[in-house]
Amino acid sequence: MSVFSAIDIRTATIDDLSAIFHLGEKVFTSQAAANLYRTWDEYEVTTLFNCNPELLLVAETEGKVVGFALGTTIEKARSAWNYGHLLWLCIDPEYARLGIGSSLFDRFRDEVARQGVRMMLVDTQADNKPAIDFFRCKGFENPTDHVYMTLNLEKDN
Ligand SMILES: CC(C)(COP(=O)(O)OP(=O)(O)OC[C@H]1O[C@@H](n2cnc3c(N)ncnc32)[C@H](O)[C@@H]1OP(=O)(O)O)[C@@H](O)C(=O)NCCC(=O)NCCS
Repeated sequence: MSVFSAIDIRTATIDDLSAIFHLGEKVFTSQAAANLYRTWDEYEVTTLFNCNPELLLVAETEGKVVGFALGTTIEKARSAWNYGHLLWLCIDPEYARLGIGSSLFDRFRDEVARQGVRMMLVDTQADNKPAIDFFRCKGFENPTDHVYMTLNLEKDN
């Protein structure tokens, strides 16, 4: 059996939350220029799990969580469109390029579509070329630059 065929994509249970948090800690905090506007912490996992548990998916092999997808849906006032925001997609580097991210994404997309979403959103750092290539491969287009700025309030003290 290939590694890929042994991967199970399923919705997360409460017992998975610790593994998800620690895998995210390993992957997201090791990225060279972590974004300040979105930080990976335990509240991210528990809050999103409470909001929409169907949108917290894990990839498991041999009892180990090797990837996850985590997101939410957004309803905009005065808009007929519902948006599905894939906030965090994470594959253990030891299991990269095996199609696991793609399988997690496909399942996430099917689930948001089932929940009435007509448009999906993703965001990542402008220099995260692997992620941008991945999302292009999944059909995303129109990348738009977004500028984040900071103001250090301690400088005035
Ligand atoms: C981006 C990420 C989710 C891809 O997961 P993955 O399981 O390795 O991706 P897949 O094997 O399903 O790749 C599908 C396609 O995406 C593209 N792709 C994936 N990783 C790539 C990379 N490092 N460089 C270039 N293209 C890549 C390829 O077209 C690939 O198809 P191919 O392998 O047949 O060429 C994974 O590398 C990751 O977790 N990165 C760190 C976290 C992150 O940046 N998440 C996204 C923002 S929240």
